Amino acid sequence: MRIEAVAGDITVQDVDAVVNAANSSLLGGGGVDGAIHAAAGTGLLAACRELRRTTLPDGLPTGDAVATGAGRLRARWVVHTVGPDARAGQTDPALLRSCFTRSLDVAAGLGARTVAFPAVSAGVYGWSADAVAEHAVAAVRGWADTHPDGVDLVRFVLFSPRVLGTFERALAGPASGSR
Ligand code: APR
Repeated sequence: MRIEAVAGDITVQDVDAVVNAANSSLLGGGGVDGAIHAAAGTGLLAACRELRRTTLPDGLPTGDAVATGAGRLRARWVVHTVGPDARAGQTDPALLRSCFTRSLDVAAGLGARTVAFPAVSAGVYGWSADAVAEHAVAAVRGWADTHPDGVDLVRFVLFSPRVLGTFERALAGPASGSR
């Protein structure tokens, strides 16, 4: 599995699944959530509302992930995940790592072969880009070690050169596992 980091807008990525840094309500917000909903169109919100009406009446728990279609995005799916909110005292790295591993479980389960992630929790939810990069890279590498044929590509799509730099440094660090 190839893991890469690029600077750019996640809404224009040509991948099978785009991961959204949502909130538990799944009913949209600002940041990357707002950008994805704006680019995907109102069908995405309708699909999220349907999830709330059916399988997720209490919303999506922090650290979990759920997929919908992707509306007008180039991707086939949006995988919504809810990062830990440092402002609310959610500073457990296991919750953040779970966003990445659960999103990969969901994407791979649908047959996605390429997945784009934003820096979940590095914006409104107040985690440092360095911490997000460290835990995101470790989580994805660990997932790849246990899912050798899980997906072909994970692309971290970062919205600024500064955050890109933190992910590049994390990717240059020691790889987990035997590789
Ligand atoms: N493409 C890629 N990355 C983006 C984009 C974009 N179009 N827009 C924003 N980002 C980056 C931000 O710069 C930040 O580095 O995504 C990262 C995550 O920031 P947020 O979108 O604020 O997500 P998060 O910190 O997880 O907070 C989630 O914010 O938007 C609301 O509804 C959302 O309540 C939820 C909370």
